[in-house]
Amino acid sequence: MQNYYTSKIILITGGAQGIGRGLAQAFALEKAQVVITDLDWDAGAEAMAWLQKQNLTVDFMPCDVSKEEQVQQLMNKVRQQHGRLDVLINNAGIASPARKPLGQLRVEEFDQVLAVNLRGPFLCAKYALPLLEKGTNPTILNITSTRAFLSEPDTFGYTAAKGGLEALTHSLAISLSTQRIRVNAIAPGWIETGPWQQESKKSEPHHRKEDQEQHPVGRVGTPEDIAEAALFLCSDKAGFITGQSLIIDGGMTVKMIYHQ
Ligand SMILES: NC(=O)c1ccc[n+]([C@@H]2O[C@H](COP(=O)([O-])OP(=O)(O)OC[C@H]3O[C@@H](n4cnc5c(N)ncnc54)[C@H](O)[C@@H]3O)[C@@H](O)[C@H]2O)c1
Repeated sequence: MQNYYTSKIILITGGAQGIGRGLAQAFALEKAQVVITDLDWDAGAEAMAWLQKQNLTVDFMPCDVSKEEQVQQLMNKVRQQHGRLDVLINNAGIASPARKPLGQLRVEEFDQVLAVNLRGPFLCAKYALPLLEKGTNPTILNITSTRAFLSEPDTFGYTAAKGGLEALTHSLAISLSTQRIRVNAIAPGWIETGPWQQESKKSEPHHRKEDQEQHPVGRVGTPEDIAEAALFLCSDKAGFITGQSLIIDGGMTVKMIYHQ
């Protein structure tokens, strides 16, 4: 990215593990000043230590993105330490309960998934706005999911939240265009995050041949696949792109399946 990110201030929610950790590493390698936020303090501390071992420095600021007061405090802290924000990546998300029949899904379970996956990005965008207004070529990137467009049975909260986040992406892009803030989304498909978890949850990937081969590119995705696209979308090389969603799924959503 030819030094584009040097000294840029990047805030990544859910940055302690999984795709968020991959994003933190990628932006730190570009010499950005990365702040990760996560509600898991242990995972956050571990992520910082893991990156430090690679001579990469990131800040960890704990926050539950579903809680308005905590998001306000987080943005105050970013303002005090950095004075501005150039990139906000709304990555934090939960899928729990992964699947439950409609009749058994409790309303509180549905609400909780929406609170983290949809209210969280709304709160972060709202309270980051004054900081982004002080940034250089500021951008917001929302991590959605191909489940915004396609469903497995019994995945109500997650699917609804990710569909909402897709819509929030173009709503924010249009609303913040006067401030010249670009807003885009990445919709990942199956991304293997086992090696990117905190130590106690780490796992080595072992995919069945059919898991790999059902993807037109012949493999499951990695956090690096998402990070490469994020680096592009948040840079000025993508300066004419706003309100868009990039599906990164190895071709799964364009594959037509007939059972004969
Ligand atoms: N892994 C995939 O296959 C996949 C596919 C499509 C979309 N996604 C999306 O990508 C994003 C990252 O997913 P992942 O697989 O890396 O997940 P992950 O569970 O590995 O990591 C998510 C991180 O977010 C943190 N988090 C959870 N709730 C939070 C909250 N309320 N406030 C702050 N932090 C919170 C967790 O502690 C964790 O560190 C999510 O939005 C997810 O929906 C993932």
